[in-house]
Amino acid sequence: MHTEKRDFNQEATAWDEHPARVRLASDIVEAIKGQGILRPEMEVLDFGCGTGLVSLGLQPLVGSLTGVDSSQGMLAVLKAKIDRLGLANVRTQYCDLDQGDRLAGRYDLVISSMTLHHVKEVGPLLASLHAVLTPGGSLCLADLDSEEGQFHDNPAGVFHSGFDRRLLLQALGAAGFVEGRAATAAAIEKPGRDGAIRCFTVFLMTARKP
Ligand SMILES: C[S@@+](CC[C@H](N)C(=O)[O-])C[C@H]1O[C@@H](n2cnc3c(N)ncnc32)[C@H](O)[C@@H]1O
Repeated sequence: MHTEKRDFNQEATAWDEHPARVRLASDIVEAIKGQGILRPEMEVLDFGCGTGLVSLGLQPLVGSLTGVDSSQGMLAVLKAKIDRLGLANVRTQYCDLDQGDRLAGRYDLVISSMTLHHVKEVGPLLASLHAVLTPGGSLCLADLDSEEGQFHDNPAGVFHSGFDRRLLLQALGAAGFVEGRAATAAAIEKPGRDGAIRCFTVFLMTARKP
């Protein structure tokens, strides 16, 4: 596990040039759609939205979407897409919980894709996501299953080598969520950091605020 923060700003402009990333985001979008929870009037928060690969996949099916990220570079790429596509229902918001910023607003659905493993303290984050959900609102978390620290070529800012589903479900319960469940959303076959080919799986975990 590495503790230094990762500079996502440096990676932002070339982020979408990696087909495997785009495919993973698309698999996660399909997994979220498959939950049958998207509604045209929904207000959605995408925590750790990056360049909006998942946000913009969901945008046509919801009322509005706020993409939150702690990288101005990532947000700038998403903002350029919003402007280019003329999207009136998507906005970006800078927020770094590690620096004491707080999430604002009220949302019917909070999603987060491949961001949790970059956040050191998962419990406080889950509490913050719970706080901005409306009663009855849903949470969708996509992230890596436990792995041996081989997924990332650049281990900077990777605080968790994936997650044990059972323990994460317990953490969701401790944060006040109910009806937590998880299913496999994607499988990625690629060389690990040591060069050996591995299959990494990504779960979609869903839960509800009572
Ligand atoms: C692996 S990228 C995933 C981007 C996007 N969700 C996707 O699936 O394509 C992780 C994102 O989380 C953001 N991030 C990392 N730590 C964060 C934090 N503490 N608060 C907000 N965003 C964070 C990074 O800036 C980056 O854009």
